[in-house]
Amino acid sequence: MPEIELKTSGVTSVIRIGRQFSLPDLSMDRIGPDRFVVADSRVKHIAQPWIAGGQALFLPATERTKTLSTVLRVIRALLRSGHERGQPLVAVGGGVISDVAGFAASIYKRGIPLHVVPTTLLAQVDAAIGGKNGVDLPEGKNLLGTIRQPDTVLIDPLILAHLPDVEFRSGLAEVVKYGIVKDPELLDLVERRIDKIRQRDPAVLLEVLTRCVCAKVEIVSQDERDEGGRAVLNYGHTVGHALEAATGYRLRHGEAVAAGMHAAGTIAARLNLASPEFLERQRAALAACGLPTRIEGCSPATVLRALRHDKKRAGGKHRFVLAEGPGKVRTAVEVEEPLVRAALRTILA
Ligand code: GLY
Repeated sequence: MPEIELKTSGVTSVIRIGRQFSLPDLSMDRIGPDRFVVADSRVKHIAQPWIAGGQALFLPATERTKTLSTVLRVIRALLRSGHERGQPLVAVGGGVISDVAGFAASIYKRGIPLHVVPTTLLAQVDAAIGGKNGVDLPEGKNLLGTIRQPDTVLIDPLILAHLPDVEFRSGLAEVVKYGIVKDPELLDLVERRIDKIRQRDPAVLLEVLTRCVCAKVEIVSQDERDEGGRAVLNYGHTVGHALEAATGYRLRHGEAVAAGMHAAGTIAARLNLASPEFLERQRAALAACGLPTRIEGCSPATVLRALRHDKKRAGGKHRFVLAEGPGKVRTAVEVEEPLVRAALRTILA
């Protein structure tokens, strides 16, 4: 089974991908006893083997959980259990859990070992890899956090059997994103095997997951601090985040990112950076994944307002990650507001 190393500034994070790597027995060599488990309360059955009579804290995995007070709750639970430096924290859940538990592990007693068992497709291909964690403030999302690589990430396609379809499809948006920004063969694979992927065929998923992890590891190992090349991972996210905010987080992250990729593709096509054929190919791949490229009940003006609050916006200009085609990406492209507005009109019903 693949074991991928992410090497950054003197630290090596090990990512194991394989069937049943969600079971502690297979990774005891890295994790050891005396662990404290922080888990999504919806996946108690996955967390149970990790707890094995030890201590655990279950959290609801909603965006409202991503607060500093939840991080303090984790820290107080660690203190109450007598958790020492050197003893590991195991996070079992999706991106909300790895964000909160990862933040707590990075500051508790100046840092304790962290092992992550991501239980959603989105977390397996994105949130659990690369060391970003964080919580929200009333002023905005992810405004507090650290970048700190987990010691181990255990990725198991069999875990995904429990995921509701809408969440699985949401994760596929990030898969298509990797296919466009980094790995054209992955885009081909999604197009060819989408039926098997959506049936969650473990063998096909294993290939998809491995390609996504390799893509992210390569990008993060060259720019862990997000000062340059890591920005390609934001493809579709500029408009995506604005759509999430403008709809009061009614949309799933992946749904918003899918529509955001279509908006970015429209901008690239109108700037003659990308061909209409590429835009159509991307739209068809997203549709095959069951993802929307049109969003109802939201006006361009509301999304533009949210875009103006984008924390990545510099000097009052709209900046986009744009793709010229699979594997050909430009970052920080300045786009005039009338073009942004026109692209928004194409995705808002
Ligand atoms: N999810 C984007 C990043 O890790 O940089």
